[in-house]
Amino acid sequence: MSGNTFGCIFRITTWGESHGRAVGVVVDGCPAGLALSAADIQKELDRRKPGQSRASTARKEEDLVEILSGIFQDKTTGTPIFLLVWNKDAHSSAYDQLLDRPRPGHADYTYQMKYGIRDHRGGGRASARETVGRVAAGAVAKKLLAQSGITVAAYVTELGGIKAEIPPSDLTILSAQAESNAVRCPDQAAAERMLERLDAVRQEGDSLGGMVEIVAEGVPVGLGEPVFDKLDGDLARALMSIGAVKAVEIGAGRECASLRGSEMNDPLIWQDGAVGFESNHAGGILGGISTGMPIVCRIAVKPTPSIARAQRTVDFASGEAAEIEIKGRHDPAIPPRIVPVAEAMVALVLADHMLRQRAARV
Ligand SMILES: Cc1cc2nc3c(=O)[nH]c(=O)nc-3n(C[C@H](O)[C@H](O)[C@H](O)COP(=O)(O)O)c2cc1C
Repeated sequence: MSGNTFGCIFRITTWGESHGRAVGVVVDGCPAGLALSAADIQKELDRRKPGQSRASTARKEEDLVEILSGIFQDKTTGTPIFLLVWNKDAHSSAYDQLLDRPRPGHADYTYQMKYGIRDHRGGGRASARETVGRVAAGAVAKKLLAQSGITVAAYVTELGGIKAEIPPSDLTILSAQAESNAVRCPDQAAAERMLERLDAVRQEGDSLGGMVEIVAEGVPVGLGEPVFDKLDGDLARALMSIGAVKAVEIGAGRECASLRGSEMNDPLIWQDGAVGFESNHAGGILGGISTGMPIVCRIAVKPTPSIARAQRTVDFASGEAAEIEIKGRHDPAIPPRIVPVAEAMVALVLADHMLRQRAARV
């Protein structure tokens, strides 16, 4: 299987399956001399780990990171950073039926057809456990970005059709408001309604989807490598590579299709002796290169495919139609849990492009 490595200079390779012994990541290309401790990585893994709220799967994992290489005296050495998390709470028997009966909406059917063999336990490589490696690597990228004053934060803007109202606000405040509730939405009133709907839908054995917005602030003008490695192109690829993401928007996103040029264009202005923009419909990117304005992305996340209802499928062994009643522990909605994963993917893209930018001109 190829396709496990992401990035150009700041490169990561994730490894591991949901019910294998461990999951993790190798980060290659991180410059030497970056102050980095296990606590920096643990902080992000704690935000990602399951079993923290009623909006999350009941699987209980400590997700304690072990740093096997690449860091000496709390600083990166420039050598590959190997990060490992043991899988401790896997209940594999709940997944026995998946060996022959692919779940509708999940990756069981396509993995089986492509490889002829797969670790079906807990979804194997297509499980959200794989995102442990992304979030751990993203923590390293965030630390690198912080040195240049760049911050990345995400929050839920819609869940199960309930839309949040989010007035323009400081990114750190928005993020703190979002982290204060189980659905990670900065609009507390909307968050309560989202939770109520989530509880009701879960009782019916069903799941919900939603929207997540990711913002990067402090990104300087100039990041991005046209033509094929445009910043928006790489961000879209990074975000779309997360399981359950079905659409990516930058700036005005799909709404741009119904705007006029005079509405979409962001006027350039002088601001304190430097060039700025009056608005940010471009989402901080023009021609694949960052403008210096905040980078704004949104992702549409589908409802969790593993639902507690009888569904129609096929049986590989008998060659007949079959029913499946999915067991195991699943997230009733993915958006709250995808927040730290989406932040990690955006941070990885920006860290990579920041390093690439150093070779852009003499
Ligand atoms: C953070 C996160 C949590 C997820 N939780 C679950 C889950 O509990 N149950 C499930 O069936 N799918 C879950 N998924 C979605 C599957 O991983 C995804 O639907 C599957 O890999 C198929 O990929 P696709 O939806 O992109 O086609 C989760 C995804 C993410 C990113």
